Amino acid sequence: MTRYARVIGTGGYLPDEIRTNEQISQTVDTSDSWIIERTGIKSRRIAGPDETASSMAEIAARQAIEAAGCDPEQIDLIIVATGTPDRVYPSTGCLLQQRLGIKDCVSFDVQAACSGSIFALNIADQYIKSGAAKTILVVGTEICSRIVDWTDRGTCILFGDGAGAVLLGLSEETGILSTHIHSDGEYEDLLYCPNPQAASESNKHESAFISMRGNEVFKVAVNTLGRIVDETLEANNMDKEAIDWLVPHQANIRIIAATAKKLKMSMDQVVVTLENQGNTSSASVLLAFNEAIRDGRIQRGQVVLLEAFGAGFTWGSALIKY
Ligand code: UT7
Repeated sequence: MTRYARVIGTGGYLPDEIRTNEQISQTVDTSDSWIIERTGIKSRRIAGPDETASSMAEIAARQAIEAAGCDPEQIDLIIVATGTPDRVYPSTGCLLQQRLGIKDCVSFDVQAACSGSIFALNIADQYIKSGAAKTILVVGTEICSRIVDWTDRGTCILFGDGAGAVLLGLSEETGILSTHIHSDGEYEDLLYCPNPQAASESNKHESAFISMRGNEVFKVAVNTLGRIVDETLEANNMDKEAIDWLVPHQANIRIIAATAKKLKMSMDQVVVTLENQGNTSSASVLLAFNEAIRDGRIQRGQVVLLEAFGAGFTWGSALIKY
């Protein structure tokens, strides 16, 4: 029997507060037109004071569970991708398990920055294929607004908050066709977020905010995502034309357009959410996937390519027959 990890439910959550480019341009030296032209972003959502990665994850997860019509007790494994956990430990996965009231399952976090949800899908796929688990909840959840320096125009215009979830179940027919993940630790200096509390003496005075050399990250991202597309197609012996939908990480519309061009895909086949969400890091791909499933764009039987790139650098893809 071939075992596939099939998508049986998806969910998403965005906090209520909308922060527009206009609002940001009142506090840092930028403009709505610059941000739209260079990134494609118009606004982003900002979590409320009482919200956390686990509270947002719970809402997205409950939606995915409801969509699947699944009893939460059936879930064997919870994998949460986040770079903004509520606590260093317990993991956000354990906090989510508690919130969902699941008595007996395994829960842990994956930290791969913006590629986190793709890494989590890769792990989930291995568990289902090997027979180690049957029903897995994967969530990407981020409160980027709390690790962004709101005085740094190079980063504060980019990020937003939210959570995306997918519930995977064992199937003999279709599901995740392949996943591909990579890391290269050489690029720490181009994109990082310090953790001063646990840092060495020489780093402990760093601010706890995202630091990014955006232009350099941009160039590596475009090249790397082009390569992961080739790798994914080759592994599946598939032509570009076989892909119905591209669901990319939502960092910058110019990066997304470059990947679509590489695939010779029209932008109508690309799920873009960044205009009103910004970059929600590990939540972005699952939020976009959920949106396009719920609004009926992605249909059962279609082939969907998910991809992401983030700090580390980390990057990866998941090819899914939905
Ligand atoms: O999700 C994880 C991976 N992250 C990414 O993939 C992000 C990748 N990077 C990017 O999306 C882009 O590099 C940015 C949107 C961050 C920046 O766009 P860019 O076209 O690469 O601009 P740049 O950094 O080359 O800067 C061009 C100019 C500079 O001014 P000078 O030196 O030419 O006078 C910047 O100081 O734009 C200036 N600039 C801004 N101007 C207005 C930088 N940020 C801003 C801003 N508003 N917010």
